[in-house]
Amino acid sequence: MKKLITLDINNRIYEVAVNDNELLMEVLRKKIGLTGTKKGCGDGDCGACSVLIDGKTELSCIKLAVACEGKKITTVEGLALPGSQLNPLQDAFLEHGAVQCGFCTPGMLMSATGLLLRNPNPTTDFIKHEMSGNICRCTGYKRIIEAVEAAAQFGLKAGVK
Ligand code: FES
Ligand code: FES
Repeated sequence: MKKLITLDINNRIYEVAVNDNELLMEVLRKKIGLTGTKKGCGDGDCGACSVLIDGKTELSCIKLAVACEGKKITTVEGLALPGSQLNPLQDAFLEHGAVQCGFCTPGMLMSATGLLLRNPNPTTDFIKHEMSGNICRCTGYKRIIEAVEAAAQFGLKAGVK
Protein backbone atom coordinates (compact mmCIF):
# COMPACT_ATOMS: atom_id res chain seq x y z
CA MET A 1 0.00 0.00 0.00
CA LYS A 2 1.30 3.45 -0.88
CA LYS A 3 2.02 6.04 1.74
CA LEU A 4 2.17 9.82 1.32
CA ILE A 5 5.56 11.23 2.29
CA THR A 6 7.07 14.70 2.22
CA LEU A 7 10.51 15.21 0.73
CA ASP A 8 12.63 18.38 0.93
CA ILE A 9 14.56 18.49 -2.33
CA ASN A 10 16.65 21.46 -3.40
CA ASN A 11 14.79 23.61 -0.85
CA ARG A 12 11.40 22.73 -2.28
CA ILE A 13 8.82 20.51 -0.59
CA TYR A 14 7.30 17.62 -2.57
CA GLU A 15 4.51 15.31 -1.45
CA VAL A 16 4.69 11.91 -3.12
CA ALA A 17 2.90 8.60 -2.70
CA VAL A 18 5.44 5.78 -2.43
CA ASN A 19 5.66 2.12 -1.51
CA ASP A 20 7.86 1.21 1.45
CA ASN A 21 10.41 -0.39 -0.85
CA GLU A 22 10.64 2.43 -3.40
CA LEU A 23 14.11 3.78 -3.99
CA LEU A 24 14.96 7.46 -3.78
CA MET A 25 16.53 7.37 -7.26
CA GLU A 26 13.30 6.14 -8.85
CA VAL A 27 11.19 8.65 -6.94
CA LEU A 28 13.48 11.51 -8.00
CA ARG A 29 13.52 10.49 -11.64
CA LYS A 30 10.04 9.11 -12.24
CA LYS A 31 7.76 10.82 -9.73
CA ILE A 32 9.42 14.20 -9.32
CA GLY A 33 11.02 14.55 -12.75
CA LEU A 34 14.53 15.33 -11.51
CA THR A 35 16.27 13.22 -14.14
CA GLY A 36 19.70 14.76 -13.55
CA THR A 37 20.26 11.94 -11.05
CA LYS A 38 21.35 9.04 -13.26
CA LYS A 39 20.70 5.33 -13.03
CA GLY A 40 23.88 3.44 -13.81
CA CYS A 41 24.39 0.07 -12.16
CA GLY A 42 21.38 0.40 -9.86
CA ASP A 43 23.36 -1.60 -7.35
CA GLY A 44 25.54 0.82 -5.38
CA ASP A 45 28.66 0.31 -7.48
CA CYS A 46 29.03 3.24 -9.90
CA GLY A 47 28.13 6.51 -8.16
CA ALA A 48 25.97 7.81 -11.03
CA CYS A 49 22.98 8.23 -8.71
CA SER A 50 24.83 10.22 -6.01
CA VAL A 51 22.91 12.93 -4.18
CA LEU A 52 23.49 14.82 -0.95
CA ILE A 53 21.37 13.94 2.06
CA ASP A 54 21.87 16.38 4.91
CA GLY A 55 25.08 17.43 3.18
CA LYS A 56 26.54 13.94 2.92
CA THR A 57 27.01 12.09 -0.35
CA GLU A 58 24.70 9.08 -0.61
CA LEU A 59 23.73 6.63 -3.32
CA SER A 60 20.08 7.13 -4.16
CA CYS A 61 19.80 3.70 -5.85
CA ILE A 62 20.22 1.94 -2.52
CA LYS A 63 18.34 4.46 -0.36
CA LEU A 64 14.68 4.04 0.43
CA ALA A 65 12.61 7.14 -0.23
CA VAL A 66 10.69 6.67 3.03
CA ALA A 67 13.99 6.92 4.92
CA CYS A 68 14.54 10.43 3.53
CA GLU A 69 11.56 12.15 5.12
CA GLY A 70 12.67 15.03 7.32
CA LYS A 71 16.05 15.21 5.60
CA LYS A 72 17.44 17.77 3.21
CA ILE A 73 18.09 16.28 -0.21
CA THR A 74 20.20 18.02 -2.83
CA THR A 75 20.34 16.77 -6.40
CA VAL A 76 22.45 18.05 -9.26
CA GLU A 77 19.58 20.38 -10.20
CA GLY A 78 20.12 22.09 -6.85
CA LEU A 79 23.72 23.05 -7.55
CA ALA A 80 23.07 25.92 -9.96
CA LEU A 81 23.29 29.46 -8.69
CA PRO A 82 20.32 31.86 -8.92
CA GLY A 83 19.43 32.57 -12.52
CA SER A 84 20.49 29.04 -13.49
CA GLN A 85 24.14 30.07 -13.56
CA LEU A 86 26.61 27.22 -13.14
CA ASN A 87 28.36 27.13 -9.79
CA PRO A 88 32.19 27.22 -9.57
CA LEU A 89 32.48 23.42 -9.48
CA GLN A 90 30.34 23.02 -12.59
CA ASP A 91 32.35 25.74 -14.34
CA ALA A 92 35.59 24.02 -13.34
CA PHE A 93 34.38 20.72 -14.84
CA LEU A 94 33.79 22.46 -18.16
CA GLU A 95 37.02 24.47 -18.08
CA HIS A 96 39.13 21.41 -17.27
CA GLY A 97 37.52 19.12 -19.84
CA ALA A 98 36.14 16.88 -17.09
CA VAL A 99 32.94 16.18 -19.03
CA GLN A 100 32.81 13.96 -22.10
CA CYS A 101 29.64 11.89 -22.59
CA GLY A 102 28.38 13.44 -19.33
CA PHE A 103 26.62 10.38 -17.95
CA CYS A 104 28.75 10.20 -14.82
CA THR A 105 28.89 13.98 -14.38
CA PRO A 106 25.89 14.55 -12.06
CA GLY A 107 27.17 11.88 -9.69
CA MET A 108 30.72 13.24 -9.90
CA LEU A 109 29.48 16.75 -9.12
CA MET A 110 27.50 15.55 -6.11
CA SER A 111 30.39 13.50 -4.71
CA ALA A 112 32.76 16.40 -5.25
CA THR A 113 30.34 18.82 -3.59
CA GLY A 114 29.98 16.50 -0.63
CA LEU A 115 33.73 16.17 -0.15
CA LEU A 116 34.31 19.92 -0.52
CA LEU A 117 31.62 20.68 2.06
CA ARG A 118 33.39 18.38 4.50
CA ASN A 119 36.90 19.49 3.56
CA PRO A 120 37.20 22.80 1.68
CA ASN A 121 40.97 22.34 1.24
CA PRO A 122 41.34 18.73 0.13
CA THR A 123 44.57 17.08 -0.92
CA THR A 124 44.69 15.24 -4.22
CA ASP A 125 44.73 11.94 -2.34
CA PHE A 126 41.65 12.94 -0.35
CA ILE A 127 39.77 13.80 -3.55
CA LYS A 128 40.78 10.49 -5.14
CA HIS A 129 39.73 8.56 -2.06
CA GLU A 130 36.40 10.31 -1.66
CA MET A 131 35.52 9.95 -5.34
CA SER A 132 36.72 6.38 -5.72
CA GLY A 133 33.12 5.16 -5.82
CA ASN A 134 32.31 7.23 -8.91
CA ILE A 135 33.05 5.49 -12.20
CA CYS A 136 33.77 7.34 -15.44
CA ARG A 137 34.22 5.46 -18.70
CA CYS A 138 35.46 8.46 -20.68
CA THR A 139 37.76 10.96 -19.03
CA GLY A 140 40.43 8.90 -17.33
CA TYR A 141 39.68 10.76 -14.05
CA LYS A 142 42.71 13.12 -14.17
CA ARG A 143 40.69 16.07 -15.46
CA ILE A 144 37.94 15.44 -12.94
CA ILE A 145 40.45 15.56 -10.08
CA GLU A 146 41.97 18.75 -11.51
CA ALA A 147 38.52 20.34 -11.76
CA VAL A 148 37.74 19.56 -8.12
CA GLU A 149 41.11 20.96 -7.05
CA ALA A 150 40.42 24.16 -9.01
CA ALA A 151 36.90 24.51 -7.60
CA ALA A 152 38.22 24.16 -4.05
CA GLN A 153 39.73 27.61 -4.46
CA PHE A 154 36.32 29.26 -4.80
CA GLY A 155 34.18 27.92 -1.94
CA LEU A 156 31.08 26.02 -2.94
CA LYS A 157 28.54 26.55 -0.22
CA ALA A 158 26.89 29.37 -2.13
CA GLY A 159 26.01 26.87 -4.81
CA VAL A 160 24.35 24.28 -2.59
CA LYS A 161 20.69 24.79 -1.81
S1 FES B 1 23.23 3.67 -9.99
FE1 FES B 1 23.58 3.96 -7.88
S2 FES B 1 25.65 3.36 -7.58
FE2 FES B 1 25.25 2.89 -9.68
S1 FES C 1 32.14 11.52 -18.99
FE1 FES C 1 31.35 9.69 -19.87
S2 FES C 1 31.20 8.31 -18.20
FE2 FES C 1 32.24 10.02 -17.39
